[in-house]
Amino acid sequence: MPASRFRVDENILSEVAQTRARLLESQHLPGWFYTSPELFEHEIDTIFMKEWLCVGRLEEFPNAGDYAAIRIAGEPLLICRGNSGEMNAFRNVCRHRGVEVASGEGNLAKFTCPYHAWVYDLEGNLMGAPHVKEVKSFDAGNCSLPRVRLDDWGGYIFVNFDPDCQDLGDYLDEDDIRDFAAFLQPENTRLSHKFVVDVPCNWKFVPENLMDMYHVGVIHKESFGGHFPVANFRFNLKKHGYNATYESYTMAPKGVTLFGTMPWLRGKVEELFACTTWIRPTMNIFGRHDLIQPWVAHPIDEKTTRVTIYTQLPEEYFDTPGFDEKNKIYGDFIEQVATEDLAMLESLQNGVGSRAFEPGPTVKLERAIHHLQNYYLDRLMQNDDTARARRQDDCRDALAEAKASHGEARDGGYSKSFQAAE
Ligand code: FES
Ligand SMILES: [Fe+2]
Repeated sequence: MPASRFRVDENILSEVAQTRARLLESQHLPGWFYTSPELFEHEIDTIFMKEWLCVGRLEEFPNAGDYAAIRIAGEPLLICRGNSGEMNAFRNVCRHRGVEVASGEGNLAKFTCPYHAWVYDLEGNLMGAPHVKEVKSFDAGNCSLPRVRLDDWGGYIFVNFDPDCQDLGDYLDEDDIRDFAAFLQPENTRLSHKFVVDVPCNWKFVPENLMDMYHVGVIHKESFGGHFPVANFRFNLKKHGYNATYESYTMAPKGVTLFGTMPWLRGKVEELFACTTWIRPTMNIFGRHDLIQPWVAHPIDEKTTRVTIYTQLPEEYFDTPGFDEKNKIYGDFIEQVATEDLAMLESLQNGVGSRAFEPGPTVKLERAIHHLQNYYLDRLMQNDDTARARRQDDCRDALAEAKASHGEARDGGYSKSFQAAE
């Protein structure tokens, strides 16, 4: 596939200089960053074909032959559990003329291309193809579905389209994800609810909105934002992303848990415990005392994004009396909260597309958005030296600010107390 022809030139550099500036001197990205089809093509090459992307939970594929065919930024992808029990990912592109060999999700013993019936096994090998005997030097061994790298952490399945990418563990460790999230034990939880919705907005607005602590007490005031002490909010900036521990109601009506604290957090956290971290480029994980709730965004085109919200609860809850009723209340609640966000995402997209839009200033509660937008510019420009210097500035500023507002005693917050308790 040809690389995009988008180039970062002097004009673009001067246009984003204000986003590159330090937080309280900076502005949000120009509107065309969220609307340009040419830029979107460049993002696919520089971000979505390079980074690890979450595509689901292991428990969604319990048996050999369980599969899902999805598209990320237009690229067809087939994920399935093979006969040996291993998870596989392939380009969902037939080696004959390119038709997607599988669609939707379900369980199959083999994949038969719907166009001319080439048949592939669960390892992507071509098992048979009609009328190819007479084709000169036809080599079925050379017609496997191209493999896509797949790995998992915490029960989450990740893929990477770049065969030369770094290992998933190293990738996550660059932002301390595994360290930070270990106490939540996502591997001991199970998917209890999944909400999938196509949102008419650019993909970047989704993670930006989820790390925007400025809006929570406004649009979510009636749902979960009624207790959200922003003065104590501290962003721990990492190389690309961030994490934070803070206070908030859990994601249930009136902030009242129906399940109680997850067994491994009992005695370790309060009911108002909340935490979040971001896995570049499009996965925001939220933890509460009683659940884990990641949001994943996959771009469809420059103005449309598929958002999937997973809710996970401890495995042992699923067989307890009344589970289904309680689970439905949780499911309905997150869909309500999501609707509050989705309305803003759609409106953001409309607004930045206006000829009247001029990017406004960033405030302290948008520190993580500023950091994300700069990670994003780093990836587009692939200028590591500038990026490194800027990240160091960002992290120094965040730490100085945290020390000024909380003092040394609280430095490290919950994550440090967990490590000490283990
Ligand atoms: S395109 Fe798949 S068999 Fe022809
Ligand atoms: Fe929100």
